[in-house]
Amino acid sequence: MSEIDPDEYPYTGVGEYVPYAGPRFTDEAASERAGLFFSLMNSRRSVRQYSDRAVPRELIDAAIATAGTAPSGAHQQPWTFVLIGDQDTKLKIHKAAEDEERKNYIDGRMPDDWKDAIARLGTGWRKDYLKTVPWIVVLFEQRFGIDDAGEKQKHYYVKESVGIAAGMFIAALHNMGLATLTHTPSPMAFLTKLLGRPSNERPFVVFPIGYPSDEAVVPVLGRKNLSEILVDVGGDS
Ligand SMILES: Cc1cc2nc3c(=O)[nH]c(=O)nc-3n(C[C@H](O)[C@H](O)[C@H](O)COP(=O)(O)O)c2cc1C
Repeated sequence: MSEIDPDEYPYTGVGEYVPYAGPRFTDEAASERAGLFFSLMNSRRSVRQYSDRAVPRELIDAAIATAGTAPSGAHQQPWTFVLIGDQDTKLKIHKAAEDEERKNYIDGRMPDDWKDAIARLGTGWRKDYLKTVPWIVVLFEQRFGIDDAGEKQKHYYVKESVGIAAGMFIAALHNMGLATLTHTPSPMAFLTKLLGRPSNERPFVVFPIGYPSDEAVVPVLGRKNLSEILVDVGGDS
């Protein structure tokens, strides 16, 4: 840690500080990297048909470690990534998820406007991929923490924090050529019990992870272009 003069440096607080060690690029290098990264991320799709080809455990560990670098409210890191590789647990998740989704899609629990909104995705109650993929990661949000004395600790901006970590996880997997799906078999409460998680944790997203099957197809969707998502209020920086 370097010496910090409180008169010169505002972030003195009660913490310790080190020089920022992130990368610094020229504008040209940054522009090239930006284009490459956009192309990579623009090729990401949610995949619903997987091969049973094995995926080394270390790749999943690396993706979770990457997600764990996400910013979080008050740096509380309110996430737990539960990794499932054994077939028995995958089958239990598969059955419970299909039970819920059957109620949604077949038994009328899903309102018509929701059905209409997802019609073009071609999804249904069957979730075969939960049986096929080598790995499932269930991301839990920690609604509150529990300190060493067993007291409840308030967590700030939990959904924002876990959402950012989820995005970084998806990006890390895609960067390795692995596919995933942001899967939310609603309601997901069954996962807390099935995976033996404590009551302060709530399921956030189920991520089946693997290589796409050779026959995998994805719906033609298109994305909003820059002018539709960017509002420029003027001025040059
Ligand atoms: C919060 C969230 C929940 C989602 N839940 C499901 C789901 O339960 N089942 C599913 O098939 N896709 C689900 N998706 C995937 C979306 O349908 C998909 O991201 C969207 O259609 C865009 O397609 P793309 O990811 O291929 O770009 C979900 C996505 C998000 C962000």
